Amino acid sequence: MRFLITGTAGFIGFHLARRLLDEGHFVVGFDGMTPYYDVRLKEARHALLERSNGFRAVIGQLEDAEALKQAAELAEPEVIIHLAAQAGVRYSLENPKAYVDANLTGSWNVLELAKQCEVKHLMLASTSSVYGANDKVPFAESDKTDEPLTLYAATKKAVEVMGHSYAHLWKIPTTAFRFFTVYGPWGRPDMALFKFVDAIEKGEPIDVYGEGNMRRDFTYVEDLIEAIVRLVPVAPSEDNRVTVEGVTDTLSRQAPFRIVNIGGGQPVGLLDFITAIETALGKPAVRNLLPMQKGDVPQTYAAPDLLKALTGYVPETDVPTGVKNFVEWYRTWKG
Ligand SMILES: NC(=O)c1ccc[n+]([C@@H]2O[C@H](COP(=O)([O-])OP(=O)(O)OC[C@H]3O[C@@H](n4cnc5c(N)ncnc54)[C@H](O)[C@@H]3O)[C@@H](O)[C@H]2O)c1
Repeated sequence: MRFLITGTAGFIGFHLARRLLDEGHFVVGFDGMTPYYDVRLKEARHALLERSNGFRAVIGQLEDAEALKQAAELAEPEVIIHLAAQAGVRYSLENPKAYVDANLTGSWNVLELAKQCEVKHLMLASTSSVYGANDKVPFAESDKTDEPLTLYAATKKAVEVMGHSYAHLWKIPTTAFRFFTVYGPWGRPDMALFKFVDAIEKGEPIDVYGEGNMRRDFTYVEDLIEAIVRLVPVAPSEDNRVTVEGVTDTLSRQAPFRIVNIGGGQPVGLLDFITAIETALGKPAVRNLLPMQKGDVPQTYAAPDLLKALTGYVPETDVPTGVKNFVEWYRTWKG
């Protein structure tokens, strides 16, 4: 199949493109190489993808509709997977404009593109952050998500609802995924795992927010990719409305549009996560316990039932295994 993927120099886009290329698909990767974190890591990911004959890179900003159009002309995509975004919860307090530009204007450009390309399936990345401080667990896709705690979450909620309107108006089958704290090799330097491993290796203390009392439904990146790949052929339609007892399908009554959590439903405490890192590194961490940060949520916990009903799959890698794989990659990356 022919794919246009945005954000292929990013953590998740890289893994997804690599998997699709391994399966023999044609992938055009669009990325702006933004300097939010070390661009050398992004370049190294793209350099690996470029070893594959089926890959073409287009470097451009989401805000530049012309650049996106060029990528689409090259790709002639059957499927568009929109992962590029200004990510990160905490940075949205420092630089809100980056979120408005990339996630609102940029995502709207992608919707326009999907309309022009008449794709079979448009897939959009959203986040567990849209659940805000939801205290009903596990978080089901049908739960209320109107109380985001950060602009990051608000822009991702906007991507979901803008996607619904385009799915309705232009009959674009659209799936919005809600990812839950993704981690693994080639991961993001702004996220806790990378930061903790960096600090422990240097013998420096780690900043543990919420005094360690936070819980996250960590999702190993290979599991996340498995779920996405299985969802590609499941373009939302009445033909695949889920009728399993106890599972609420989010398939819209107005549009070929569905929201799906991608998470295993196995939340882990931050302190247990840190223990897994210590074990993998063979070194103890010095914990600097700090209060919750503005915008942080105490827990995330995915209900994976809809994903399971649609794909037969639920993320399954446990944290000690995933963290060990990250540490192995980290040590080669740092040389
Ligand atoms: N990693 C997670 O735990 C997680 C959790 C929930 C949701 N998400 C979402 O998944 C998607 C992928 O996340 P990731 O972890 O791979 O992040 P990432 O930052 O590694 O990748 C995003 C990529 O998008 C590119 N990009 C950013 N702004 C751009 C712009 N304006 N124009 C063109 N390219 C731009 C960046 O250069 C980067 O390579 C994002 O939409 C993110 O919000 C990630």
